[in-house]
Amino acid sequence: MEKINKSFGANNVLQDVDFKLSTGEICALLGENGAGKSTLMNILGGVLPADSGSISLDGQVQSFASPVDSLDAGIGFIHQELNLINDLTIYENMFLTHLPKKRVFLDAKRMQEKTRELFQRMNIDLDPCAMVRTLDASYKQIVEICRALMQDASIIIMDEPTTSLTEPEIQRVFAMMRTLKEQGVGIIFISHKLGEVMEICDRFTVLRDGRMVAEGKVAETTTKQLAAYMVGHEVLSDTNAEKCDYGEEMLRLENLSDGVHFHDISLSVRQGEVLGVTGLLGDGRSELFQTVFGAMNGGKYTGRICLAGKEVHMHNTHQALDSGLAYLPRNRKENAILKDMSILDNGSIVYLPRMKKRGFIDQAMQERLFAKQVDDLRIKMGDRKDLITSLSGGNQQKVVLAKWLISDPKVLILDNPTQGVDVGAKEEIYTIIRRLAAQGVAIVVLSSEAQEIMRVCDRSLVMFHGRQVGEVSGEDMNEHNIMYLATGGNQKESERV
Ligand SMILES: Nc1ncnc2c1ncn2[C@@H]1O[C@H](COP(=O)(O)OP(=O)(O)OP(=O)(O)O)[C@@H](O)[C@H]1O
Ligand SMILES: [Mg+2]
Repeated sequence: MEKINKSFGANNVLQDVDFKLSTGEICALLGENGAGKSTLMNILGGVLPADSGSISLDGQVQSFASPVDSLDAGIGFIHQELNLINDLTIYENMFLTHLPKKRVFLDAKRMQEKTRELFQRMNIDLDPCAMVRTLDASYKQIVEICRALMQDASIIIMDEPTTSLTEPEIQRVFAMMRTLKEQGVGIIFISHKLGEVMEICDRFTVLRDGRMVAEGKVAETTTKQLAAYMVGHEVLSDTNAEKCDYGEEMLRLENLSDGVHFHDISLSVRQGEVLGVTGLLGDGRSELFQTVFGAMNGGKYTGRICLAGKEVHMHNTHQALDSGLAYLPRNRKENAILKDMSILDNGSIVYLPRMKKRGFIDQAMQERLFAKQVDDLRIKMGDRKDLITSLSGGNQQKVVLAKWLISDPKVLILDNPTQGVDVGAKEEIYTIIRRLAAQGVAIVVLSSEAQEIMRVCDRSLVMFHGRQVGEVSGEDMNEHNIMYLATGGNQKESERV
């Protein structure tokens, strides 16, 4: 790609960007939230036209008027925002762009077989005939990756393919990437997890504010250096702030079970405490806290939920909100964003009912509270009345986070809070979480990233197939112990190791 320029209105998103990729190479495309990564890839993928500049494949200049043109030229695209059709089966989704026909009829058998074959090769336990809507976000991401693999592309764009995957799935994706690389496929890999970049990529290029600012070989750099290229200065990673004194117990679960996703869970979180809950895909942690928040199971559970010492039976989310609970859901794209509403309204909707002045929303107050969040979280945006969808992925995540921070909760449950957020902003979010804890909020962080748990939590529960299998804190809260428990090892043995 040569001298690519692209603006949205007055916003010059890409300026004279050059980008190249060789056969059999995995190249990381890095940059802060809003730097222009997805926009550059949308141009390569035929989703957006460039204002100027050119694209060549094997020395031939191309022009892509649509995603199909780009796909026909051998470019597979795994989008940052999931792109599956919920009302179709997995196998139908796999073949959406190139349906095989037997005379005039779609060859369903063949599609199912090919899908099953690929899943087997990749060690994925999914029924090709299942409806996509029944899948968890992680599985949807896996299906998208498989779809790109199915297309026999010579270039594959992966825009944050691992945001909702856990370690074993990430390793499986990496194994696939290595195989593709051996076959000469070139891969563009976008990720904010620099550890992944170091592990899988050969080369890196960094965008900052729409300009290419650095490139080089991954073997010759460090994560620290990459972070510095991205933000333009060194990123300091604080260690955990001193523990503050804990106050009253705010949330207590006793032997909570829903009979399907989680069994016999007991835990307690106090004011000022940050409790982690971690595990691998299928550990049940999201379902557990959705139930606590009244967003799942409609009050059908056994065991007890106590808030500030009083038992409550949680039937729905209104009741949860009224009781001072807040819950940031795990999958932003499907559960947290109102696509046809503005940035401002998305960022303050939970609190709106409480911003009333004589029956009307107090707009000045709404804007003031939100403006503070925009500052604190450094949300990069145009006008606050623009649609939320005009923001980059990471900035959308910050808006969703802002919404819950404004809601002034007693218990704040954050499920995968930093998905798609860049390294600098991650640190800011961790600082904000610790600050809220210091102000007396009881916080639960659900995450599959051991690094995140270690960075922000005081202690952490580890779950495995719906059961709590251990608790780690202090020195024991390390990647090794967490992984050991999360894969079904037992606590006593882990202490001996
Ligand atoms: N459809 C659009 N309309 C208006 N502005 C847009 C649109 N798409 C992107 N932008 C703007 O372009 C800039 C770059 O966005 P882009 O999505 O390319 O960032 P990114 O590097 O992929 O960030 P992230 O890491 O958060 O995904 C942002 O300022 C964003 O607000
Ligand atoms: Mg992006």
